[in-house]
Order: sequence, then C-alpha cells, then structure tokens
Amino acid sequence: MRRVITYGTFDLFHKGHYNILKRAKEEGDYLIVGVTGDSYDVERGKMSVQDSLATRIENVKNTGFADQIIVEEYLGQKIPDIIRYNVDVFVIGSDWKGKFDHLSKYCEVKYVERTKNISSTMLREQSINIYRFGIVTDDLDDNDAVSEPLHVSGFHVECVYSDDAEIADGFCNKFELDSGYSDYAEFLDNVDIVYIKTTREKRADYIRAALNEGKHVICEAPFTLDSGEEKELEELSVEKGVFLLHNVSELYFATFGQLLWMTRGNLIGDIVSVKCSISKELFGVSPFADFYDLAYYPLCVIVKLLGTEFHSVTSDIVRNEDGSPAYGLIKFLYNNCIATAEISMDISINGGMEIVGRNGSIYVPDDWWQIGYFRLKKLNEPRSKRYSFNFEGNGFRYLLQALLAMIRDEGDIVTKRITAEESASIQGIFREVLHD
Ligand code: CTP
Repeated sequence: MRRVITYGTFDLFHKGHYNILKRAKEEGDYLIVGVTGDSYDVERGKMSVQDSLATRIENVKNTGFADQIIVEEYLGQKIPDIIRYNVDVFVIGSDWKGKFDHLSKYCEVKYVERTKNISSTMLREQSINIYRFGIVTDDLDDNDAVSEPLHVSGFHVECVYSDDAEIADGFCNKFELDSGYSDYAEFLDNVDIVYIKTTREKRADYIRAALNEGKHVICEAPFTLDSGEEKELEELSVEKGVFLLHNVSELYFATFGQLLWMTRGNLIGDIVSVKCSISKELFGVSPFADFYDLAYYPLCVIVKLLGTEFHSVTSDIVRNEDGSPAYGLIKFLYNNCIATAEISMDISINGGMEIVGRNGSIYVPDDWWQIGYFRLKKLNEPRSKRYSFNFEGNGFRYLLQALLAMIRDEGDIVTKRITAEESASIQGIFREVLHD
C-alpha cells in the first residue's frame, strides 16, 4: 500500500485545497492530511486564520479524500510523522517548490501545481474591511512597521507623515509607500490607523489631532510625562469611540499572557519580589529614546504583575555631567512585596526579570521585553521547567492583530493590555519620582 501525506492550514476551505487533496489521494492508496494547530499558526506568524481547528478538520474530512487526519503542532514535526506513519510520498503545492527537498531522504517529495487565482489570504481580504495604516516619524527607521502589518490580513500600509518634508519623502521612497505628507491634516484624511513613533515631546499633539479625527492610534510609550494630559487623551479616545494603544508589543505575546496567568494563578505562591532590569543597549530602541521611554517597560510590567496599589515608590538615580539620568533604580513597596526596576542608559548591565513567590520563582533571561520563554522553578523541585512560545518578526504584528480584534468588536476576547488605571498609575510614578 502506497501511503501519502500532505499538510496545510486549510482556512476558508476553497477549490485549491480540494484540488490538492484530490491530487494527493491519486498519488497512492492511503492519504494522511496534517492540519496545522491554532497555536502553531500563530507561532509561525500566520496571524489571521479565521476558521477554528475543528472547522478546518471537518472541511478536510468532508472531501472524503483523507483516510487519516492529524494535527501539525510544531516546527520539525514532518520528519517524525513520515517515519511514524511509514509514508511513501509527501505532496505539497508548487508554491513551496524546493522548500521540502530535505524530506527526500525519508520519502519521495512531489510538488504539484497550485490552483491559480485562489488562496485563503485572498478570501480573507475579500471578506473584511481593509484599514489604511499610516506612520508618523522623525527619522527613516520604520521599526518594522511597514513589514509587520503584511502578516495580518486587514491592513494596508498607505503613507507616512513627518514634519520634515525631506524625511517624509525619503521614508516614502525607502519603503515604497503610496504617499509621504508633511501636512498632518492631509495625512489624517488618508488613514484609519495611525502609528506614532516620534520623540515623546511631539506625541501628545499628534495623538490628540488623530483622535479628534476619529482615527485609531498606536503610539510609543509613554505618550507624555504629564499625567493630566495622558488622562485627557485616554478620555478623548473613549469619547471618540476609537482605540488608543501603547506600543508595548510583548503584552500581547502568548508567553506574557501565560506568565501573567501563572503568577496570578498562585503557581509560585504569594509574590514577594519582582526585579526587572533593562538597558538601552539590549533594548535596541531608536536613538531618541530617553530614560523615561525605557523606564516605561519595567514600570508597566510591575504594575501589570502586582497591581496599582503600592504603598510607596522611591528612586535613586546616577546622573551624567549634564544632569541627564545614566542609571537608576526605582523601588516599589507593596503589601509584603518589593519590586525594583533597574534602568540603564549607556552603562552595560545584564537584562532579565525575576518574579519570586513563596513557593517558587519565574525567571526570564536577558531581553524579557521580547519574551519567548521563561523558566519556572518550584520550591523543593530539583529542576526548573521551561515554557516557551516563539513569535515571528519583532512582535508588532501581535499588537496589530489585537487592535483589529478590538476594532471588529471582539472586545470581550481581546482587550487593551494597559488599562487607563494602570496608565495613570505609571504616570503617577513618573510625576512623583522621576520628573525633574
Ligand atoms: N494550495 C493549492 N492551490 C491554491 C492554494 C493552496 O494547491 N490556490 C495548496 C498549498 O500549496 C498547500 C495546501 O493547498 O499544499 C494548503 O495550503 P494553505 O496554506 O492552507 O492554503 P493557502 O490558500 O495557500 O493559504 P494562505 O493564503 O493563508 O497562505
């Protein structure tokens, strides 16, 4: 008996899928179809799959071609599948030509012609609104804001604005966008979602003008160091019925969600300490980012983990000759718990985040703001366990996907990860402790 295997997501089941399954079945006597699991798709950056795994399996089953359906759950699963199921031939569409040649050590590899003019991506884009996405910048770096939306169905990166016309033109040419504007009102007329990545001093004005025009906004954090202004902007977004999001992508990563629920779920007992260290060197942010931009990240994570009801916050700061902060420690006192944020501008320090509970601890090494895995060590257990969930790109796409879900009113499933209360609390810390 000749055994055949083929794989796919099979989202919004279409003629191309039917044809390839038919062709695959014709290659032998027994067809195994691997359907990608939901988390595997997200992990490999395929963000916009619409049908559930159960629906996708049902649709494959309904063709009558599959003798066995399995779920593809991780990268590297194909070779063990081929060995385990004693496969003779691996079939895949011609869009993958050459990509699976390495499997020919284990079985025959056949690329079959792809059905023209149809794909799940095409169907997804037909069935949804496309939002026009525009970038507000001071420089020619895009922070991957041009490439990341390509991985989320529903965005078209349309244009750029800069108050410097030369930068606007240069950016537009560099990233092959439709238009570059130096008139903000004109720019706003041509977008639905605005991403603001300028220096902090300009952010609040850009946010306010965009919200007033009914545009959704993603902006680097913090928006401003003035807590009154932050509150005003949050309220304006509510009044205008649009979303205003801090660009802190890791809050939207599956691993961060898991870490948060594990700590809140009492897995390590009551938390007694949280320590987060961040340096500009490791963070790799734009050269314009200052101490406060950097400090936002550990402050945000501490508030997310421990809440806003701390008793006191103090800070110690080492300054450069010109008075600017070079290195700082911010200490929070909660009920039976201490949190510290260590922030370094030009001095090299190790990153890392450690959450210590009475029954165990969680550790995220180095650049915890790009959280791909963490270690959990329980008291009296000899070894730690690792929890990981890879993400693609720089993670911005996960925030974009969450924003789209909010706009499409799937709000009870996906919500803003920094609430107005948390935001106000972080602002309060800036005001009390840091602001000169
Ligand atoms: N396929 C095909 N012809 C098409 C679309 C897909 O032969 N028009 C094949 C692919 O080559 C693959 C299988 O169907 O072997 C499953 O593909 P999948 O990635 O699920 O479908 P796409 O429509 O390509 O999905 P997307 O647009 O999300 O990439």
